[in-house]
Amino acid sequence: MRMILVGPPGAGKGTQAAKLVETYRIPHISSGEMLRDAVKEGTALGVKADGFMKSGQLVPDDVVIGMILERIAKADCAAGFMLDGFPRTLPQAEALDDAMNKAGVTLEAVVLIEIPDQMVVDRLSGRRTDPVTGTIYHMIFNPPPADVVSRLVQRKDDTVEAAVTRVAKYHSETAPVVPFYDGKGIVKRVDGVGTPDAITARITAVLAR
Ligand code: AP5
Ligand code: MG
Repeated sequence: MRMILVGPPGAGKGTQAAKLVETYRIPHISSGEMLRDAVKEGTALGVKADGFMKSGQLVPDDVVIGMILERIAKADCAAGFMLDGFPRTLPQAEALDDAMNKAGVTLEAVVLIEIPDQMVVDRLSGRRTDPVTGTIYHMIFNPPPADVVSRLVQRKDDTVEAAVTRVAKYHSETAPVVPFYDGKGIVKRVDGVGTPDAITARITAVLAR
């Protein structure tokens, strides 16, 4: 299965991907995670990306496209992959399309997880991530066990200011990729409001259709 998860910041892409990979047994490739790792490691790519990410701007296409196309060419993606956070501009979608055509493989599904804009800040401000396991928690909606609380970290771009910019960028840059994939008839829309388990069930149901 080759698929993409799309949705506004805080829609639950990372949360759902962690659950779905257990069912579909394909690597979860999050452009945001890859970029955050590069920032942490201080690579040339990370140094370039850091300022854009902190302020909620998109990292330039040429940087991200190269990073993702290189990643999906690796052996573990031969039977499929779940992209999260990429593509998020039309040029990124076109570059992915080109690369997949050249490789003779097809994209089966684009799962669009939708939440209202006014939910985004609540979802992001309460988010905490476990640096040891990568688990995503929310202090109210998905509270962490007491023994891990002290080691949890908050993302640098989960400020109200950056969140507002990220939502605006989602509407202006990323939403236009949906009609691109609608033209191919592979978009599956899923309501992202509800419990994480309910949303996983919705996604597996639309993918089974
Ligand atoms: P990225 O890491 O992709 O962030 P994003 O798209 O803004 O999405 P988030 O990771 O914030 O949200 P999510 O949908 O994964 O939600 P989550 O499951 O964590 O990108 C970050 C930055 O990197 C970008 O701004 C950009 O600078 C750069 N970048 C990345 N990719 C790029 C690209 N392709 N091109 C250019 N730049 C790029 O859930 C959020 C919270 O809600 C959690 O606390 C969770 O516990 C909670 N939650 C989840 N589901 C539910 C639910 N059903 N009910 C209640 N709470 C829930
Ligand atoms: Mg995420």
